[in-house]
Amino acid sequence: MKVLSILLLCILFVSAVYSGYSCSNPCYGDMCCSIPSNNQYYLTTFCDESTACGTGCSQLSLFSADSQRFGCGTTLTICSAGGGSTSGSSSTTSSGSGSGSGTTSSGSGSGSGSGSGTSGSTSSGSGSGSGSGSGSTSSGSGSGSGSGSSSSGSGSGSGSGSSNLLNEIVYGTCVKVTVIDAGPNISVEEEAGMPIIDASAQVCQTLFGSSSCGWSDSRLISAVQSTENDGFPVGNAFNVTLSQYQSIMKRGELLMSQCSLNSYDSKCKYNNHSF
Ligand SMILES: *[C@@H]1O[C@H](CO)[C@@H](O)[C@H](O)[C@H]1NC(C)=O
Ligand SMILES: *[C@@H]1O[C@H](CO)[C@@H](O)[C@H](O)[C@H]1NC(C)=O
Repeated sequence: MKVLSILLLCILFVSAVYSGYSCSNPCYGDMCCSIPSNNQYYLTTFCDESTACGTGCSQLSLFSADSQRFGCGTTLTICSAGGGSTSGSSSTTSSGSGSGSGTTSSGSGSGSGSGSGTSGSTSSGSGSGSGSGSGSTSSGSGSGSGSGSSSSGSGSGSGSGSSNLLNEIVYGTCVKVTVIDAGPNISVEEEAGMPIIDASAQVCQTLFGSSSCGWSDSRLISAVQSTENDGFPVGNAFNVTLSQYQSIMKRGELLMSQCSLNSYDSKCKYNNHSF
């Protein structure tokens, strides 16, 4: 009985201390270099003028630490689930001409028609139309027909697009940052029970509407390497659909596989800034 309760206490102690978090690749004495397979972290905030990459926090508004994981100057895309929804909508149908706008999706359709006829009771005309929809979440095709009589012809075209459900589901809000510093201390991650992305206050504000994030706030984010020219905005937050989120994560993992990090201020092949 005594042995059992000691065992139980040990189990409780171990689970309280580690909370399921273990770093498979501790590095540089006091940091963790491993990247979680689900790309999930807690968000915390920092601002230091003296950084591992040499760029101070007053020089940028959207930045992060974790250069031991991603390399100095690397662009990261940090996303939080929920909280926002995409503004605008992708058009699922368009006729004649149509347009959809939004920060994360756009659709457009166009139609054209032409008809010709000759005067007289026996005149005939024909028209053709085409419509197309394009956008990140919709595709369409269209057809049109026109007929003319007497001396006039008319044509109309319509296009319709369809999109699958996955493309319409809103995932959340994302923002790109530049890696300027190393950290956090592995002891903070162990205490939080999660790996951590330490980032600027503006990231916390943008994703969670809060002026600062501490590890105990448990602000769950996903973060992966990205590039400035991947089609998503730089310098502003943007909302993403589930399929966009999935492609960001997938692309990030691909980019990460191009990195070889030999020191915490090393560079990845596809980072954008040279410090
Ligand atoms: C994201 O969606 C939310 C909720 O609709 C909205 O308040 C916010 O302005 C959107 N953010 C962007 C950058 O479009
Ligand atoms: C990291 O945390 C440990 C334990 O709290 C501490 O001893 C060490 O000085 C910290 N390292 C840095 C660089 O802050």
